[in-house]
Amino acid sequence: MEVERIQALASVGLDTLPAQFVRPSHEQPENSPAVEGVFVPVISLSQPHHALIREIHEACRDWGFFLVTDHGIPLELTGQLQEVGREFFRLPQEEKEKYANDPSRKNFEGYGTKMTKNPDEKVEWVDYFFHFMHPSGKVRHEIWPRHPPSYREVTEEYNKEILKVTEVLLELISEGLGLEKNVLKASLGGDQMELEMKINLYPPCPQPQLALGVEPHTDMSALTILVPNDVPGLQVWKDGNWFAADYLPNALFCHIGDQIEVLSNGKYKSVLHRSLVNKEKTRMSWAVFCVPPQEALIGPLPELINDQNPAKYSTKMYAEFRHRKLNKLPQ
Ligand code: OGA
Ligand code: NI
Repeated sequence: MEVERIQALASVGLDTLPAQFVRPSHEQPENSPAVEGVFVPVISLSQPHHALIREIHEACRDWGFFLVTDHGIPLELTGQLQEVGREFFRLPQEEKEKYANDPSRKNFEGYGTKMTKNPDEKVEWVDYFFHFMHPSGKVRHEIWPRHPPSYREVTEEYNKEILKVTEVLLELISEGLGLEKNVLKASLGGDQMELEMKINLYPPCPQPQLALGVEPHTDMSALTILVPNDVPGLQVWKDGNWFAADYLPNALFCHIGDQIEVLSNGKYKSVLHRSLVNKEKTRMSWAVFCVPPQEALIGPLPELINDQNPAKYSTKMYAEFRHRKLNKLPQ
């Protein structure tokens, strides 16, 4: 099937944004501006443990979102990850199309552009590359970019590093919930817990004030850890307002996703977020989604429910949650 890629569309040098990208007025960035002068929480991992747990707890409770610094991932490695991703998107269009995914046939891995099922829905100004990264049994290296040749080595190295940080964060979040530190990872499948990579490419947009890169959504992951390039755009929703999560060099942008909201019985909220696009610059981001295996049963943790705090969410297999979310069915 022929899919119009945003990168190809942008390269034509349009003056006006095609109608399918024009958001309804209330969603347009200029009609829903972010609050100025407030910075999202920034948390250093190299601080005393009790202070760290408190900061994580407060950020998860109040924002569902925070930036992490002093995480130990070498700046050079993140730079290499970004370079190999940029290289892929620099390939000629016909080369990239060899990796095209097909969500309508449940082939989610590969090169994609979101298409809408309903013609009234608006399209997002983004192309992406999505693939599994961990555990090794789920990884299909044959569908990863073959160009540049270092893509695999760099991404595998990044996977090792981001897995360590993910595990540390899950321990800290567990402790913030007053649980033993291994509880969240164990609930997410233990060694079967999965990491997925999504590289987002937001080309320059002729009328960025009318469009969105990704529309407001929560991630269905447990936790998402994202690194952007230096073009701002990510915004998070808190108490009825948007807040810009501005670029901070070498910081990890951490989102609480739907699975932690469910496991925590709503103590921690899955953060609503969106991304804006830019008139001159290409924005990119590398999102790592930490998700349970499809067959994992996810529901409020027994430790967190009692007569005063009954379960607010049903327990179901992650596959079922995902099916409902993708098809916009109630959970
Ligand atoms: C996503 C997402 C935001 C960004 O891919 O789920 O929210 O900053 N991306 O690219
Ligand atoms: Ni997201």
